[in-house]
Amino acid sequence: MRNLLVTGGAGFIGSNFVHHVIDHTDLSVTVLDKLTYAGNRASLEGLPAERVNLLVGDIADADLVDDLVSRHDAVVHFAAESHNDNSLHDPSPFLQTNIIGTYVLLEAVRKHEKRYHHISTDEVYGDLELDDPARFTEQTPYNPSSPYSSTKAGSDLLVRAWVRSFGVQATISNCSNNYGPRQHVEKFIPRQITNVIDGIRPRLYGEGLNVRDWIHADDHSSAVLTILDKGAVGETYLIGADGEKDNKTVIELILELSGLPTDAYDHVTDRAGHDLRYAIDSSKLRSELGWAPAFSDFRSGLAATIDWYRENEAWWRPQKAQTEAKYQQLGH
Ligand code: NAD
Ligand code: DAU
Repeated sequence: MRNLLVTGGAGFIGSNFVHHVIDHTDLSVTVLDKLTYAGNRASLEGLPAERVNLLVGDIADADLVDDLVSRHDAVVHFAAESHNDNSLHDPSPFLQTNIIGTYVLLEAVRKHEKRYHHISTDEVYGDLELDDPARFTEQTPYNPSSPYSSTKAGSDLLVRAWVRSFGVQATISNCSNNYGPRQHVEKFIPRQITNVIDGIRPRLYGEGLNVRDWIHADDHSSAVLTILDKGAVGETYLIGADGEKDNKTVIELILELSGLPTDAYDHVTDRAGHDLRYAIDSSKLRSELGWAPAFSDFRSGLAATIDWYRENEAWWRPQKAQTEAKYQQLGH
């Protein structure tokens, strides 16, 4: 394998993946990204021009995708509409990009017989009770709650069908909540970090008892490279780093690490249909492919993420006012 087509490579996890690939392999990368509100050219700054090329375009553009896929050895598909709150407000782009876009990519990899890795989420499994000892495994039935997670579930099922019916050489991974540098300020952790920088009180949905299973984006990247290298075609792998925390604890930690009182936040209107708890059992990936996360201490990973936002205000500042105005409209 010499070159990768990475869709959504100007977004949060996609750009972290491109940086990881450049640092840890000798592969070249073409990023296909529509540069929606969530994509940012600046996320690819500093990468070697001879190894990374950004092509601005839509994954639902069949002619463009067909040509690009024919010229690459493998496709890693990150591009998506990714934010639950947006999907509750307007589901339409979620159907177009997450379902139709994935279909277009699958038809191209089928025609050109290329390796395909599909990036998905633990949200396809729905949620768990707070006191349930269970965690999600590759056998957990699909039960998505939101327009976002249902379109991701639909895209996963398309991949499974294209593997079985047409022999497409695909793998799927379902990962838990990512944190780290270059995440859009609409998402929970960067929203609160940048609120604190701006002197705005952090905003906790409801009581904040909801649990997310946090993993550093760089660990997500190393897991995806491991699956591309050693994963069995047709298989699904769950990616997680045993990072369960409730939202209240995370907000309190951001405040503490910022030198503020840990109760200096506000409770705001809860999200409709808000999933209670996600938790990943990643034993299959660890035991069959030998992967392990490098970031085991959430507190120090979060502190480094806070530092990144403090040092890179030029990256997030242009998105901040517009994002908060949108949240005000949604009542959050
Ligand atoms: P993001 O919103 O930060 O980035 C998405 C990127 O896709 C953006 O650069 C955007 O411009 C691009 N894009 C959107 N529509 C496109 C289209 N039609 N054509 C081409 N490019 C398009 O998202 P993210 O948080 O980095 O998530 C990336 C992937 O990882 C998604 O598939 C998401 O479902 C999955 N995922 C995310 C998380 C998480 O915690 N953020 C966890 C598990 C899985
Ligand atoms: O589990 C993986 C998923 O994680 C990915 O598939 C999604 O793309 C990604 O956005 C993320 O989804 P969540 O809905 O869990 O992430 P979000 O950052 O929107 O919210 C995290 C938690 O924090 C959730 O319980 C809602 C809550 N929240 C969020 C915001 C923006 C707040 O309490 N306050 C906020 O201001």
